[in-house]
Amino acid sequence: MKGDVSRPLSERVREAAVYLYGKGVLKPEIGIILGSGLNDFADRIKNPLIISYNDVPNMEAGLVSDHRGQVVYGKYKGKRVIIMAGRFHYYENRDMDKTAFPARVMVSLGVRRFIITNAAGCVNTEWNAGELMLISDHINLSGNNPLIGRNLDEFGPRFPDMTYTYNRELREKLRSAASEKGIELREGVYAMFTGPSFETPAEIRFARTIGADAVGMSTVPEAIIANHAGREVIGISFLSNMAAGVLDKPLTGAEVNEAALSIKDTFAEVVDLAIDI
Ligand code: HPA
Repeated sequence: MKGDVSRPLSERVREAAVYLYGKGVLKPEIGIILGSGLNDFADRIKNPLIISYNDVPNMEAGLVSDHRGQVVYGKYKGKRVIIMAGRFHYYENRDMDKTAFPARVMVSLGVRRFIITNAAGCVNTEWNAGELMLISDHINLSGNNPLIGRNLDEFGPRFPDMTYTYNRELREKLRSAASEKGIELREGVYAMFTGPSFETPAEIRFARTIGADAVGMSTVPEAIIANHAGREVIGISFLSNMAAGVLDKPLTGAEVNEAALSIKDTFAEVVDLAIDI
């Protein structure tokens, strides 16, 4: 039965990974999770292997907040790349196992480097909407953690260190590589709220006070899973809007997606560099 949660998580993950392996998803080096409005990046892979989430055992395809819901695999820039086009959000079901399932499958398939992307609200008032931010660290305000529950020892330790989650050396390399192409990347702290309501202005002031530069509703679960397994993580936020209350106007989801379209090419260039470095 699809998504039979009575079976151990490790078994469900393995089954999904074995299925993908059988379809030809062989030893991906780079794993990319695409955020809202950023899914077009998957079209860059030539002659891709495309597998619908519907066909992958234990993937709750119905929950995906994007029309695609596809695993896309292929050779790109000389590397074997797996892309999860369409991500699961915690606000869909209050279930971290489901939210982080694709990341666990990518760990299981052997992905060494995770490139995790999102659209986020800009909390830092010195910055502007339309900019890209490398995530240097995060604050988990979801009230949950994907590692709660029996530890999967084959993935990583019970109490994983989170000091170096967003690989510092890679951030430095990526920033200078982008700078050489004339793309200036901000670098800062991403705070995850659950959503799906946008934050209130008071919550944004709170986020700023505790050190956040950006806010969003994703990324943290996947980053924790990748880090747990000792994999490299690069987090890229597209600052699609100034966060609530920074400007005297309401926010809409449509605005976020439209803004993402406008940055598509620059965003893709940065992801390209994150694969190369
Ligand atoms: N808040 C939370 N998530 C978001 C935002 C925001 O302002 N913009 C894009 N994703």
